[in-house]
Order: sequence, then structure tokens, then C-alpha cells
Amino acid sequence: MAEEFLVVKDLHKSFNEFKAVNGVSFSIGKGEIFGLLGPNGAGKTTTIRMLATVLKADSGEITIGGHSVRRDAESVRNIIGVCPQDLALYEDLSALDNMVFFGRMAGMNGKEAKEQAMTNLKMMGLVDRAKGKVAKFSGGMKRRINLAIALMGNPRLLFLDEPTVGIDPQSRNNIYETIEDLRDKGMSVLYTTHYMEEADRLCKRVAIMDGGQIIALDTPYKLKGEIGSPEQVTLEDVFLKLTGRSLRD
Ligand SMILES: Nc1ncnc2c1ncn2[C@@H]1O[C@H](COP(=O)(O)OP(=O)(O)O)[C@@H](O)[C@H]1O
Ligand SMILES: [Mg+2]
Repeated sequence: MAEEFLVVKDLHKSFNEFKAVNGVSFSIGKGEIFGLLGPNGAGKTTTIRMLATVLKADSGEITIGGHSVRRDAESVRNIIGVCPQDLALYEDLSALDNMVFFGRMAGMNGKEAKEQAMTNLKMMGLVDRAKGKVAKFSGGMKRRINLAIALMGNPRLLFLDEPTVGIDPQSRNNIYETIEDLRDKGMSVLYTTHYMEEADRLCKRVAIMDGGQIIALDTPYKLKGEIGSPEQVTLEDVFLKLTGRSLRD
């Protein structure tokens, strides 16, 4: 396997008595898109929030780019980008002003922030909407802006939490192409989704999560091959086989 960029060992998080994340371990290689799949409530967002230094783990070890999240959160924050499940945008500002604002927050000067904002808007196919107010944008366009913001500062590891829920095909394809391009340039990606076909297409390896635990982890091809012919079965079928439940329940 390629050089590991993120390593997670035995991560735990409870809310009161409820174990939301219960002993999760995995690693992500440099330049790998890694999928965290599972139904709503599986613990995907809670896992991402701990990796992104937003939420404190009860126990476990997280290392990103050689830095411990517990001991050196600041260094970790400098090399990660986070595209949260819930949009975090100022509706009354233009796309460009939103991006410049977040760039400044990340420590860039005004000129740097503006240059990078324009580069990222171009990448997301939204350069002609730079001056448009975010309030007027479609859900898919807002998602793309959210991703463009996460990419300010050229992170080496990107967290994408369900970026394609309820968006149009054009925005979805743009998101796929962007992260595949960046992956080819060496960025690592943690991609969460409950759409199994999406994970199958994008991810080199996937961890299937349910009830706070990883119940399977491998390449989509191998996971499918364990229950049938990889060309004929889907990751949905794998989930059904492992849990006795359909993902869509
Ligand atoms: N801040 C919180 N307080 C209490 N329970 C929470 C909190 N955050 C998440 N949970 C619970 O933890 C479980 C996992 O949630 P989450 O990580 O958001 O799952 P996913 O992203 O896979 O849908 C859910 O049952 C959710 O209700
Ligand atoms: Mg979630």
C-alpha cells in the first residue's frame, strides 16, 4: 500500500450512554480516495468530526500527516480541508466574498485569498457566478461552493461528508471530477456517503460502517467478490448480506 497519510486506531465516542463510534480503525494512503459508507446514524459524521479536530474523542489515536490530533491539532488543521454535511455559507455574500472570507480565516492575505478563490471557482465550474449572491444559487451550486471553500489553502487531506445528497447531476459530476483530479495530484480524501454506487465508482477502498463499527473494509471489487461475481453484485448487496438489512430502510 502507498504511504499512509491518515491513521486511526480504536476510536471511541459516546454521547451519554450511547456509543456513536465504537472502536473504529483504518488508514488512508497518500493520494487515495477512501470511502466511509453506511446508513444514517452509522457514525460517519461523528468520526469525521473527531478526525477534523472539531470533536474530542473519548479514546483512540489519530495521526494525520505524522501529526497527532490530540497533541498537535493546530498542525493538523493546517493540512486538512473540511466540507461539512451541513452547508456553512453566508447567503447574503457573493460566492467570491464567501471564499475570500474563509481564506482570510485560514490565514491568507486578501490577494492570496482572492487568487485562490478564483482558481477554485474555475475548478468547480462557477467562475462566471463569482459575483452572484449565494442566496440565489441552487443546492448543487451551494455544495460546489462549499467544496471550493474546503479547498482553500490546498489541503493534503480532504474530508467530504455526504457531498452529493439531493443535488443535480451536473454538480455531482463536477464534484467527482474535481476530487479525482486532486487525488491524481496527491491529495487524500475521506468520502462519506450512503450511496453505495457512488463509493464503488470513486473509492479505492471502502469501510462499511454500521452501529458505530466498521463491519467490512476492502476494495469495492473484493467486497463484492466475497458474496458473488463482482460484475453482478453491488455494494448494496454486500451491506444486505452483512447486516440482513437494506441500506435504504
Ligand atoms: N451531539 C450529539 N449528541 C447526541 N447524539 C449524537 C450527537 N451526534 C451524533 N449523535 C448520534 O450518534 C449517532 C451517529 O450519528 P452520525 O455520526 O451523525 O451518523 P451518520 O453521519 O453516519 O448519519 C446517531 O444515532 C446520532 O443521533
Ligand atoms: Mg452524517
